[in-house]
Amino acid sequence: MPAAPNMRESGAMPSDDDLAGALRQLAARAYAPYSNFHVAALALDGDGAVIASGVNVENASYGLSLCAETVALAAAATAGRLAEVRRIAIIGGRMDGGQLAGQEPVLPCGRCRQIINESAALQGRDIAILAFSGDGLSRRITSIAALLPDAFGPESL
Ligand code: THU
Repeated sequence: MPAAPNMRESGAMPSDDDLAGALRQLAARAYAPYSNFHVAALALDGDGAVIASGVNVENASYGLSLCAETVALAAAATAGRLAEVRRIAIIGGRMDGGQLAGQEPVLPCGRCRQIINESAALQGRDIAILAFSGDGLSRRITSIAALLPDAFGPESL
């Protein structure tokens, strides 16, 4: 079973448009009945292949909701590959008539940044973040070091 819809498990590096298309399909699987804000994340290895995917999973006890990036990284850890994540691609937006909407790229929340930082620290290198708007048309490229400078991490203990 592929880690994400319409994504090759290996082979040629997927283009940004491939990633946006896969993320938009994946976001339809989000369980977000309370916010209607659907998020999807793909954890990618150095070849651009999908290690794991995640969607946000909300809960009737609202504060217990799980973010897509956290779910994807937990799945990467479950696959034994947390230290191989080189890039995380995310998308988020409101679901409108069965389509993901929104024109601004969605960046990881603070808690997700901390969790992404753990994977980066584990391998002693930065992780690239590719963030898409819900409509898939806008993108922003950044990295965890830029989003969470001077992070608290394993080396702080
Ligand atoms: N959400 C994520 O999945 N990732 C983020 O980085 C930001 C927020 C989810 C949590 C909640 O289900 C919905 O988006 C609205 O906050």
